[in-house]
Amino acid sequence: MPTGARRIAFAHHKGGTGKTTSCLNLAGCLQARGRRVLVVDMDPQAHATSGLGIDPATAGENLYSVLAEGRPLSQVVLETESGVHLAPSSLDLAGAEVLLQSRPDRLQALARALGDVASRYEFILLDSPPGSGLLMLNCLAVADLLAVPVDSGVFARESLKSLHLLLGDLREATGAGPRLWRILVVANRRGLFESLGGGASTNGLQRDAGTIFGGAVPVSRIPYSSAVVEAQRRGLPLRRVSPGSAANRAYERLADMLTSEDRHG
Ligand SMILES: Nc1ncnc2c1ncn2[C@@H]1O[C@H](COP(=O)(O)OP(=O)(O)O)[C@@H](O)[C@H]1O
Ligand SMILES: [Mg+2]
Repeated sequence: MPTGARRIAFAHHKGGTGKTTSCLNLAGCLQARGRRVLVVDMDPQAHATSGLGIDPATAGENLYSVLAEGRPLSQVVLETESGVHLAPSSLDLAGAEVLLQSRPDRLQALARALGDVASRYEFILLDSPPGSGLLMLNCLAVADLLAVPVDSGVFARESLKSLHLLLGDLREATGAGPRLWRILVVANRRGLFESLGGGASTNGLQRDAGTIFGGAVPVSRIPYSSAVVEAQRRGLPLRRVSPGSAANRAYERLADMLTSEDRHG
């Protein structure tokens, strides 16, 4: 099991809930606090890779070589313009998922790979693909904290139930699994928080999450900011493009929480 870095997975089986956005922008905020940060792009769609300014098609070797061919992770990690380090992805990674199926260590392939670099970082942020396939499960299996971005639709509660079941299955299979760190309710284009009943309160979702997960689960809201898309287009974390945007301020607060939790053990 890798040691050293705090490992946070951004996971949810639905696409488009704000996993990649949250992973990258929190990475940018942590890096700006002087922390050594690695983003691991486990999604064959490679949005975290392109979102850090790296073209997946020309990045060279990526996580496919690591997971399918056993290449050391340190050999594929790149330093991106913002200073955040990246283990890049590409469409090939979908093939690694198929190869992993027949391996006895299929749930621990990423954990083993991270052992090579974990001591170099304070934070390792894992951008999970949607679905509940092996790439997603590998992210959960290696994480010690789980951030669950949910979109502001009305199905947030149902999706938390499925995630809870999945974590139970994983714990049964591996004896480990992440602690649910927080739910991030990411605003949709209209800036509404529908899962919160259209109101400002996160109480309903928080209560539901508490019932499902059997304990208090903090909920943070990430407001809509048009600069999010601009930052992704420019291949930079949001704080480098629009530090004062509402979304960035939300990610700064999350970074403060993580770094102070860090200091206080
Ligand atoms: N806070 C936000 N403000 C504006 N747009 C956002 C915000 N969060 C996410 N988006 C946009 O929503 C879309 C889906 O987000 P993304 O992070 O790619 O989701 P996922 O990784 O879960 O599929 C992207 O186009 C992204 O730019
Ligand atoms: Mg994504």
